[in-house]
Amino acid sequence: MKNTVLTFQKMKEDGKKISMLTAYDYSTAKLMDEAGVNGILVGDSLGNVVMGYEDTVSVTMEDMIHHGAAVSRGAKNALVVVDMPFMSYQTSVYDAVVNAGRLMKEARANAVKLEGGENIVGQVSAIVASGIPVMGHLGLTPQSINAFGGYKVQGKDETTAKKLLSDALALEKAGVFAIVFECIPSALSKLLTERLSVPTIGIGAGKDCDGQILVYQDMLGMFSDFTPKFAKRFANVGEIMTNAFKEYTREVGEGVFPAKENSYDISAEAIEKLY
Ligand code: KIV
Repeated sequence: MKNTVLTFQKMKEDGKKISMLTAYDYSTAKLMDEAGVNGILVGDSLGNVVMGYEDTVSVTMEDMIHHGAAVSRGAKNALVVVDMPFMSYQTSVYDAVVNAGRLMKEARANAVKLEGGENIVGQVSAIVASGIPVMGHLGLTPQSINAFGGYKVQGKDETTAKKLLSDALALEKAGVFAIVFECIPSALSKLLTERLSVPTIGIGAGKDCDGQILVYQDMLGMFSDFTPKFAKRFANVGEIMTNAFKEYTREVGEGVFPAKENSYDISAEAIEKLY
């Protein structure tokens, strides 16, 4: 059964934890879907883990549509949320609605995600009013990395923690169906989860959120450019891939691959006529 925003809300109400992972392609989304992951985020983290940029600032609408459409084709049951990239919604309410609409129509997203709080409630309400579910994203919001001056834990003092709470309540009032909290203290995300009626999804925000999300290359050990402490490794797929690539190169070099069972036949008679 397809997970919807109502499934997420019910899971919060029933005290069931929501699992989310990022994905950027069809095959990975299909595997996650078959494994029963509740939601898949086509994150603009694709700028880092797929495209090799230093940050997410250069990611475009075309990138998100291309990868979003691939993931949507692979996810039969998981709720697919597609990130709105930097400057696709900050510029105006009009741009926000048009670009959210493109992600729904062209990437077949089930919902979109925007970074920000009180500063973007106009955009959030207008997108929600168009019939598009919106997920919020607060705390360490990577699109603002140049304003933050680095990847740092957010909301560690009373002033910034209060600001996070007022941003979260403003997003809830504007109609978001869930909020991602990235890199904030666990006790703060516990309080936010209790105060909000919509589900909270944590990444580096402790165990008390209603759900969790990780970048899949981080949790599979496939990306080592930077490894935040919240990114627990559930498998070392990177090592398995490297070993397979080495073995392939060795077999090709030694003429072991392809073997007879990997090759196609033609009758000796037919081939002789060509000589
Ligand atoms: O882009 C992304 O992958 C994200 C998650 C880290 C929440 O926004």
